[in-house]
Amino acid sequence: MASADELSHLFDSVVGTVELRVADSGLQRNFYEEGVGLAASAENGPVTELAGADEHPLIRLDSSAAADAEPVHVPHTGLFHTAFRYPDRASLAAAVARSAPLAREFQGASDHGVSEAIYFADPEGNGIELYRDRPYSEWPDAEPGKVGMFTAPLDLPALLEEATSEGDEVAPDIGHIHLMTSDVARALAFWRDAVGLAERQRFGPSAVFLAEGLYHHHLGANSWHSAGAGPAPVDRPGLQAFELRLRSGEAVNAAGEGLEGAGIPVERDGNSIAFADVDSNRVVLSVR
Ligand SMILES: [Fe+2]
Repeated sequence: MASADELSHLFDSVVGTVELRVADSGLQRNFYEEGVGLAASAENGPVTELAGADEHPLIRLDSSAAADAEPVHVPHTGLFHTAFRYPDRASLAAAVARSAPLAREFQGASDHGVSEAIYFADPEGNGIELYRDRPYSEWPDAEPGKVGMFTAPLDLPALLEEATSEGDEVAPDIGHIHLMTSDVARALAFWRDAVGLAERQRFGPSAVFLAEGLYHHHLGANSWHSAGAGPAPVDRPGLQAFELRLRSGEAVNAAGEGLEGAGIPVERDGNSIAFADVDSNRVVLSVR
């Protein structure tokens, strides 16, 4: 039985800022503003920050290293998708209708039991998920300590009929981030044993889902297209860094000690730490 304290944190915004190297800042900004529903909150030379449901930046677009560069077409680790979460079907449907004409590619729509999700690639090929959670009381049964996510078809036309103009006014947060990793077992050991996230589900040897607490996942990692691969070159578009905002300074400290215990160098800055994960992504852990 989940404690009331844990349930009170179930839908917290844990993923903070996702930082992307971009080739065309204007093109990308237009997608995240007009499609996803974010709003520019800061601009500083080659860097534009966009915020969503609250003032904390969700996306940082940085064109300083990859301006005009081509996307990477060979297998690589990095971002599988950034998953923007809307509070209801009306706002999710409105965001899907806005994003579809601006995205590079539509990649599918799924009912995961815990959530309903639509997948795109942004104009530079970064994976995007738009989704809404079902209430916890509707989540599928699972073995103790795990979550009963599944993948079934989603009736997209029925969802789109629920789009409303009020839904257009609703900004998302980021509910989870999903990474492409070179080795799922290594990623699981890193995020569970060193950082301290809870393992919530595993899809055989090729995907794992972890969370702070009871959420279905704040971080996913799969090796479907990236087994044995290395990161994209740092002068090409793609994931540069991401932030997880934990619920306490104690949790951040414990992660820092776990990482150092595993031989991972950690930079400390007040209540935040930064490090490179197993696939060389820069990660910041802070307190929300
Ligand atoms: Fe996802």
